Amino acid sequence: MAHAQSPIAILGCGTMGEAIVAGLLASGARPPADLLATSRREARRESLATTYGVQALEDNRAAIDGAEIVLLCLKPKGALELLSDPAIVTALEGKVIVSIAAGVPLARLRERCPASACVRAMPNTPCTAGKGMTVLARAPGVSDAQLESVRDIFCAVGRCIELDDAHMDAVTALNGSGPGFVYVMIEALTDGGVMMGLPRDRAVEIAASVFEGAASMVLASGAHPAALKDDVTTPAGCTIAGLLTMEDGRIRSVLARAVQEAAAVASRLGGDPPLGPSDQSA
Ligand SMILES: NC(=O)c1ccc[n+]([C@@H]2O[C@H](COP(=O)([O-])OP(=O)(O)OC[C@H]3O[C@@H](n4cnc5c(N)ncnc54)[C@H](OP(=O)(O)O)[C@@H]3O)[C@@H](O)[C@H]2O)c1
Repeated sequence: MAHAQSPIAILGCGTMGEAIVAGLLASGARPPADLLATSRREARRESLATTYGVQALEDNRAAIDGAEIVLLCLKPKGALELLSDPAIVTALEGKVIVSIAAGVPLARLRERCPASACVRAMPNTPCTAGKGMTVLARAPGVSDAQLESVRDIFCAVGRCIELDDAHMDAVTALNGSGPGFVYVMIEALTDGGVMMGLPRDRAVEIAASVFEGAASMVLASGAHPAALKDDVTTPAGCTIAGLLTMEDGRIRSVLARAVQEAAAVASRLGGDPPLGPSDQSA
């Protein structure tokens, strides 16, 4: 059975895999020697080994053999192709496999890896900075201890909660794609500050800090965001003037529909077959 300090294999260590590696090392939760990262490209492996001191391997099988917990960080199509290899499936037997692939439901993971403990995870790139959010869903038969060993990994790089697999496409849109949506909002608010004469570097620092601070208020207070908004809205003041301008632009439905649309696309990423013309991702 996996335990808290089992070595971790990160198969397909690209953008999201690297975010997890960087966050785990920065938090001190794991030493580099505990992490085995794979990539097909030599230059990428060299970069991972040099930057982080982790074991960077070409051979996925060797990485699986050296670990108890295996993070599957390839794109959905690549992840499913890898799990079509009988040697890989055999190597995964008895191990905890954590797929972060968008659109690949637990049922498909279990179909490919019936003798593994299958967990689906949807993290996001702020894991790099220890401010990630990860949602886990476990397949039937995954024990509390096994899930705990996965939670330990993601709690080291941010928050981590468990939900049912049925919610994971919505989570992919809100959490996996969410940072992309927020970067656009930060950029837009920054532009507003620049328009009013602020230096861009100061404006972006202020805009990003506003997001960080407001998010902390929501999380720490547990208050409804509307109540917090009312608290900062003085009658006839500048904030209500700005808010009404946002409503004129249908800001709420635009943002909500972005999540809806991203979830619809996410649900198709793990299609069997075909997956589409290109390697798609969250
Ligand atoms: N990016 C995000 O914000 C985000 C957020 C949440 C979830 N996700 C999910 O995370 C997964 C990865 O996304 P990503 O953005 O990190 O993609 P990515 O940067 O392309 O990373 C995937 C990595 O897999 C490697 N790879 C491909 N085939 C391989 C193989 N057979 N063996 C070993 N390595 C292989 C690729 O490198 P080589 O070509 O060098 O092998 C690449 O570096 C996706 O399933 C996505 O749905 C992403």
